[in-house]
Amino acid sequence: MTLIEPSLSAPTRVASKRTILMCRPDFFTVVYRINPWMDPAVPTDTSLAVRQWETLYQTYVDLGFDVKLVDPIDGLPDMVYAANGGFVLDGIAYGASFTHPERQPEGPAYMKWFGDNGFEVREPKNINEGEGDFLLVGDVILAGTGFRSASNSHEEMAEIFGRPVITLKLINPSFYHLDTAIAVLDPQPVVDTSTGSVQAPNIAYLPSAFDEASLAILRERYPDAIIVNEEDAAVLGLNSFSDGLNVVIAKRAKDFERQLKERGYNPIGVDLSELLLGGGGVKCCTLELRS
Ligand code: ARG
Repeated sequence: MTLIEPSLSAPTRVASKRTILMCRPDFFTVVYRINPWMDPAVPTDTSLAVRQWETLYQTYVDLGFDVKLVDPIDGLPDMVYAANGGFVLDGIAYGASFTHPERQPEGPAYMKWFGDNGFEVREPKNINEGEGDFLLVGDVILAGTGFRSASNSHEEMAEIFGRPVITLKLINPSFYHLDTAIAVLDPQPVVDTSTGSVQAPNIAYLPSAFDEASLAILRERYPDAIIVNEEDAAVLGLNSFSDGLNVVIAKRAKDFERQLKERGYNPIGVDLSELLLGGGGVKCCTLELRS
């Protein structure tokens, strides 16, 4: 008798090529503390950070992504977290304006790269940390506030991009950017080839990172979301990047990995333990460029 694997009713996932911007951590170290993960007393190994980052870079290249690079700048150790460099959609790059003085020079550095590379740059009027706090899900922008990006930047975003912007309030200092508490699983709506039905893009999130009002919004909008546990969130498991099929995640986020497989995604684990010392993971090192 042959054993038949139980078939899971997951739609066929389809990968789409992404264009992203990354920054080599040549000058990565932890010399200041602007989030609870950072401790300048704990030594960092820059060459290990570079090697781990190169694995992530190679993973993206192997997935067929178009990976662009911005030159790292000595004295800006957090520049590796490219997600914070801005938010890019429709060929428009909304620049970042950082909360903490230590990172403020990164804003103009990233804006220069956007300008030099054919993007229409919008200088920010309000404090915001780019894709760290802004996530495009379908045609809606989820926007975080509470620790870094100011809520008036959400209004600025809505004006610039003409899309609905939904404010979500973060309440746990360890999950200070929206991309540490929410993972976007589908860049576009998902077509179920067996039924022909179209499903809204889905997300994964950590409920305890949000205030009650925000949680109510997430539950209502994303009833099928993957709920990630505290253990996986604590290795920044949610800080991941998906092309609709392949989801690059923290290697140690085992339960998240299992849930992704169940839903028909292909999780790819990478180890960025060194960059975790700065409070960042996969997504933090990745800025999507949408032309
Ligand atoms: N040390 C950086 C900071 O605190 C880490 C940024 C992580 N980036 C992210 N997109 N979550 O600003």
